[in-house]
Amino acid sequence: MKILAIDTSADETAVAVVEGRRIISNVIYSQINIHKKWGGIYPTLAKKAHEERIDGVIKACLDKFIRNDKNSNVETVHEPSLRQIDAIAVTQGPGLAIALEVGIRKAKELAIQYQKPLIAVNHLEGHLYSCFAQNQFGNPAYEIKFPYLGLIISGGHTQIVLIKNHLKYQVLGETLDDAAGEALDKAAKLLGLGYPGGPVIERLAQEVGQIDKYRFPRPMLQSNNLDFSFSGLKTSFYYFVRELPEKEKIKSIKYLVSSFQEAVFDVIVKKTESAIKQTGVSNIIVGGGVCANLYLRKLLRKMVKKNKGTIVFPPFKYLTGDNAAMIGIVAGYKAKANQFVKDIDKLDRMTRMSL
Ligand code: KG4
Ligand code: ZN
Repeated sequence: MKILAIDTSADETAVAVVEGRRIISNVIYSQINIHKKWGGIYPTLAKKAHEERIDGVIKACLDKFIRNDKNSNVETVHEPSLRQIDAIAVTQGPGLAIALEVGIRKAKELAIQYQKPLIAVNHLEGHLYSCFAQNQFGNPAYEIKFPYLGLIISGGHTQIVLIKNHLKYQVLGETLDDAAGEALDKAAKLLGLGYPGGPVIERLAQEVGQIDKYRFPRPMLQSNNLDFSFSGLKTSFYYFVRELPEKEKIKSIKYLVSSFQEAVFDVIVKKTESAIKQTGVSNIIVGGGVCANLYLRKLLRKMVKKNKGTIVFPPFKYLTGDNAAMIGIVAGYKAKANQFVKDIDKLDRMTRMSL
């Protein structure tokens, strides 16, 4: 079953064509340059950019699909290529309301016009399933074996989830305030390092060998539950930086961000380890923008090895951030389970949709 998937939940206009776990075509238009100067996503600008780009991104994705699909017999690339698609999938939530609406409206329009079934997907499921993605030739040939502990670490979410089978989730812990990526973004913003903060912090921390000079607090590590909280860390970082003389601050910037990153990652790794101990499940899948960080991957791999488990990350870097391929892959499993949208007119965005 070939699925055209759309995700407009935040600041990427993303469209993909997938078949099962295979990504046949994937196009992402990133709005980062639009939002950079605001230090975060500016909702009305995101909506406008999605509206302006969505048709072009769909067209580019279908063009690529036709070129990549060996079975295709369509020579000219235009709308008839949608006839070769079996279903449309779209992110229903969580995300920015006015951004989600653009994708949902477009998905409904295509489903009605081309008489295709519609599948609504939770963006967080997508981040988890990004670990199972394959290129168009079916690589990597990784075999899915439940149960898993799923770790979602993005700009909007930090969650640990027990996944007993396809589409069966139990949230074990989540952030009570800021998400891990959000915390990194705010720390970077405070130091004038731009947006998004995660990649800049990764680079600067690497330059000083990820040293933990300042030992900022590790929130929630003492608690028995699997919830996270990063706002206390953010506040203590804020006061510490505020007290530093300007010259000292500039001199210490790499050590500051390195110590901040260490505190965030230490909490993530230790909470994941607690989840392994509590559930007895030591096979981990990790999704979300923050898992692009190679140092975090190293820390997690080490911890999982110690616990005799396995760990899977999204196999291609573009799958760590927001994309529509992951939405299409989930949709394939939902189609198998006959989970189609029953009344297309009634489908609406769910900004706080949970797993
Ligand atoms: O998954 P994502 O693209 O969007 C959301 O659904 O939120 O995640 C974006 C987040 C941002 O906070 C960004 O700073 C962070 O992922 N991020 C990173 C890295 N690349 C992106 N954090 C740490 N290290 C990275 N290399
Ligand atoms: Zn996301």
